[in-house]
Amino acid sequence: MNIDAHPRSRLIVALDFDSLAPALRFAEQIADLVGMFKIGCQLFTAEGPGILSKLSPLGPGIFLDLKFHDIPNTVASAVLTATGLPGVQLMNIHALGGRRMLEAAVKAVKASAPLDADRPQLLAVTVLTSMDGKAMREAGISGQPRARAVKLAEMAKRAGVDGVVASAQETKAIRKACGRDFLIVTPGVRPALNPGSAKGRSSKTDDDQARTATPSQAVRAGADFIVVGRPILAAGDPRAATQAILDELAAAE
Ligand code: C5P
Repeated sequence: MNIDAHPRSRLIVALDFDSLAPALRFAEQIADLVGMFKIGCQLFTAEGPGILSKLSPLGPGIFLDLKFHDIPNTVASAVLTATGLPGVQLMNIHALGGRRMLEAAVKAVKASAPLDADRPQLLAVTVLTSMDGKAMREAGISGQPRARAVKLAEMAKRAGVDGVVASAQETKAIRKACGRDFLIVTPGVRPALNPGSAKGRSSKTDDDQARTATPSQAVRAGADFIVVGRPILAAGDPRAATQAILDELAAAE
């Protein structure tokens, strides 16, 4: 996996579609502008693992965003299977599954590549970017999202996980606590201006993300990768929307 000088390598586009045909049509339009495509539970559930052999030949790597959260043995088996799917560079589990589950997943991902070279990187989801303090309290999770996300990131790091998925609002604190080499992937990214959208602003589906940031705020806070879905998927001109994000990332470096 490469984070090279081109801002494209930092951009992960979420292919949140219900079936292969529109996902593929869309991915082909922007493949040369993105570093990775993210396949989440929506597309994976509809199409199964075969979707990866359709999308990985387009060039960008694959972030397999299935957020495993189960008993350690089950998660380890799922992680090991996922490492064998074509093009997977990033995959994830929920940090809330606990230390033993994280350690089992780390062991599985490492077992997939004896020399450790080119194996997929394993991320732990800290606190979903759709959750605010109230949503956390309703779920019986104490504290504010930032403090909770930092604690979960520290636990993931101790378990040997390569990085986390976290909102831009806690990125700085996680970077400080976990160091430069710990990967931070930031979803919930909302460009301030979106020239690809019909109205000139990213206006679609106001919006289940609670802890958002612009692409430049996310990268300045220390994110290695940003994940963008609806601001590109819903744009009238997805290439223009993607290019605008790349321009913003280039200016932020
Ligand atoms: O459309 P939007 O830009 O909000 O898409 C964000 C993507 O990132 C979605 O595919 C969602 O599943 C994913 N994601 C997230 N929060 C996390 C982890 C992943 O929003 N903590």
